[in-house]
Amino acid sequence: MNIMVIGGGGREHAVIRSLKKNKSVSKIWCLPGNGGIAADAECVPVKATDLEGVAAFAKDRPVDFAVVTPDDPLCLGLVDRLEALGIPCFGPTRAAAAIEGSKVFSKQLMKKYGIPTAESLVFSDPVEAAGYLKTAEYPVVIKADGLALGKGAVIVSCAAEAERTVREMMVEKIFGESGSRILVEEFLTGPEVSVLSFTDGKTVVPMVSSMDHKRAHDGDEGPNTGGMGTVAPNPYYTAEIAKECMKTIFLPTVRAMEKEGRPFRGCLYFGLMLTPKGPKVIEYNCRFGDPETQVVLPLLESDLLTVMQACRAGTLTEEMVRFSDGAACCVVLASDGYPKKYETGYEISLPETEEGEEIFVAGAKREGGKLLTAGGRVLGATATAGDLKTAIRRAYALAEKISFRNAYKRSDIGARALKAAEGKTCSPQTSQKQE
Ligand code: AMP
Ligand code: GLY
Repeated sequence: MNIMVIGGGGREHAVIRSLKKNKSVSKIWCLPGNGGIAADAECVPVKATDLEGVAAFAKDRPVDFAVVTPDDPLCLGLVDRLEALGIPCFGPTRAAAAIEGSKVFSKQLMKKYGIPTAESLVFSDPVEAAGYLKTAEYPVVIKADGLALGKGAVIVSCAAEAERTVREMMVEKIFGESGSRILVEEFLTGPEVSVLSFTDGKTVVPMVSSMDHKRAHDGDEGPNTGGMGTVAPNPYYTAEIAKECMKTIFLPTVRAMEKEGRPFRGCLYFGLMLTPKGPKVIEYNCRFGDPETQVVLPLLESDLLTVMQACRAGTLTEEMVRFSDGAACCVVLASDGYPKKYETGYEISLPETEEGEEIFVAGAKREGGKLLTAGGRVLGATATAGDLKTAIRRAYALAEKISFRNAYKRSDIGARALKAAEGKTCSPQTSQKQE
């Protein structure tokens, strides 16, 4: 089997490592990949958003299966483009990827099909939005309709801040056309849970739950990032809650997409908040989360390629997807200063890994035989173990062995989860004001 993976972050590295466990996989191309992924796949310098470039590359190669993981190429329709060339893909079509690509679309879908989510209003006129926000009850959440590099949701606590946010999104267009329409959403509270799922358009099989750590600094302080670490499973997500989510959220969403003529095949990510009134959808993503994937896939015991092919073929069953009972922790090593200003180009020294340890590289390039930092999030140190406490200890022990000059990591990844798992008093992670 010759496989083409589109993307170039830690998530894609984790996907490639999992795919390689299948003995029938003989070749993996990664477009564009990165300096770390190059140890596991042939990296080709074509941007994931260069649809024509990807198609041209694939046309001349014996690609048996393609895996498209980042949001932008999915929302631009890369899967449609490749399927038209006769290349079977894992990933949703452009029409289905709208579940992430347009928050207005996904909100209307949830309203129409009675899927629990925050109340909200849509505005396409900044004057109308500002008028409404003068009298709103605070806090509220203001969200840009389209993709915004994960920065499109702002929690605002007063009218002045709301006015500024509306101006930035709708008039100054800091997120481009993504901010032409906005949603003003009810502020919810409760622990957040990420649930990735496999779906073939009809059947939906949730993966092990996980918990992201979005803030840059310990204690959930500092600016929002792409994610500084993850643990799986998420202890707040009990078997009872999982059952409720399947009934009220997962199945209804997949059925709704089918009814709308946009069957979703691929990985559907449910960003949930466990509110006092039950689980509600905070966001959908049309793809694997990052760094969630870096803890979820190492716990997958089934063959990833088989599951992905079943999602594409419409033959997915629950029995196909098996996860270990253990736990995993991923500690992200970033360039100091991320997500704001940071330096790159420093040499990375990677240790040998043992069974149950993985280093997934996100922002690095290879130059003159050396691996150099080339991004904000540089890599993820992941460890699996029989229990969460050991997984966290092992992930930190692995992270300690990795060095580059301006490495920065949080020191409390998993601490909140561990307290919750051990039943100690803890305040659930609730969303806080963004900076
Ligand atoms: P999103 O871009 O929709 O994923 O939102 C980013 C983050 O903002 C989420 O992970 C939450 O922490 C927070 N958030 C989004 N929507 C809400 C909401 N309605 N109430 C409270 N927090 C929210
Ligand atoms: N870690 C959140 C995301 O991938 O969107």
